[in-house]
Amino acid sequence: MPDRPPVPTRPAERPTSADPPTDGPADDDWATVSGSRRWAATGPVNRWSRRRAELSAAGVELTDLTDTNPTHFGLGHPGLPEVLARAARSSGRYDPDPRGPRPARLALSERYGGAPDDYWLTSSTSEAYSWLFALSADPGQTVAAPAPGYPLIEPLAHHAGLTVQTYPSHYLHPYGWWLDRERFAAVAAQPGTGLVTVVSPGNPTGAYLDAAERQHVLEVCRRLRLPLIADEVFAPHALGRTPPQRWGGETGTVVWALDGLSKSLCAPGVKLAWIRLSGPARLKPALAQGLDRVADAFLPVATVTAAALPGLLELVDQQVDSTRRRLTWNLAQAKAVLSGDRIRLRQVDGGWIGLLDVSGPGPGDLALALLERHHLAVHPGWFYDLAEPGCLALSLLPEPDRMADHCRSLRRALESVEEAG
Ligand SMILES: Cc1ncc(COP(=O)(O)O)c(C=O)c1O
Repeated sequence: MPDRPPVPTRPAERPTSADPPTDGPADDDWATVSGSRRWAATGPVNRWSRRRAELSAAGVELTDLTDTNPTHFGLGHPGLPEVLARAARSSGRYDPDPRGPRPARLALSERYGGAPDDYWLTSSTSEAYSWLFALSADPGQTVAAPAPGYPLIEPLAHHAGLTVQTYPSHYLHPYGWWLDRERFAAVAAQPGTGLVTVVSPGNPTGAYLDAAERQHVLEVCRRLRLPLIADEVFAPHALGRTPPQRWGGETGTVVWALDGLSKSLCAPGVKLAWIRLSGPARLKPALAQGLDRVADAFLPVATVTAAALPGLLELVDQQVDSTRRRLTWNLAQAKAVLSGDRIRLRQVDGGWIGLLDVSGPGPGDLALALLERHHLAVHPGWFYDLAEPGCLALSLLPEPDRMADHCRSLRRALESVEEAG
């Protein structure tokens, strides 16, 4: 077992069985109540987030360049309320099913492939990760996850008592990202590894694993008999090229593919995601039974939402088109404004984030300097395990006018930070 932070209790002050019984803890006794090591492992809030919260609390108006919530930027299909309302009128009866109502899963299989029984509905992709972590590995085991990568994988793994071991991707400008195949195989082969995750396209890299990398990942998982979670929530948002093949439908190794409406329909508030199981036919029934058991303990999806899913899926293509138009336009604006001798935008193939590199001498913590001196909130690259000190992650979702303002403000601030040193 790896070292863990101390349990957030003071054991010496906790009652023992030898202490006389009391009527229960007084309010101020809660400081001594038992707490899990997993909770302690979440650690303190980082300096950038703390400073941002302090400035907001002091009434300072910050320009937010971090926001990737599509509902804050007028993205979302106008037909959505009517589909939900129609479903509400016809969904009075409740027949629980651990995988979610069959008509919803039938609609998924017709759109994405496989059979209705290959799908489980969840309220979010995060929930899907949690279920699969619980199903696939024992506390103390390790999840292999990409770095740079989606920051929620680590806390979700910790909640399940698992630790994360990262495998790297590298960036070469202007070509893009490539998976470090050797490191990937080495991390997967470590004795404690219980399952593997890939995120394609990645967050924040926006990079799809290409056909050869995909094959490598599948082959390593097959050889080591490791289940694979493939998070493809950003898959339809390819910028400038046809999206590569999806991860469902594999027969050689076990793949749990994750997707949902929060990105495809820009509808995170609808709270509907799904898991698709693919793999060798002889393994699928036992795996399905296992996940049924986990799902049956939660039954998280509302009947109304599930009943709306077939209608909501009909809106997805239109929504993806308009989101992609927004992303493409904003990316072009960002490239035009945020490029120069010392500034460059990295290659983006998909997703909702642009990564910016600012080189040369500057303040030790660029994102903190932008926050404190210019009241610009832009995520530092280290939020995502990007080691370069001048790396920033920029949301590509704002309305075009607002995006143009953001890019110009950021450019001015970077020039001024550069001059001040
Ligand atoms: C890669 C990735 N997967 C999953 C999610 C979460 O999706 P959901 O809202 O379905 O939990 C996000 C959210 O930003 C994400 O970036």
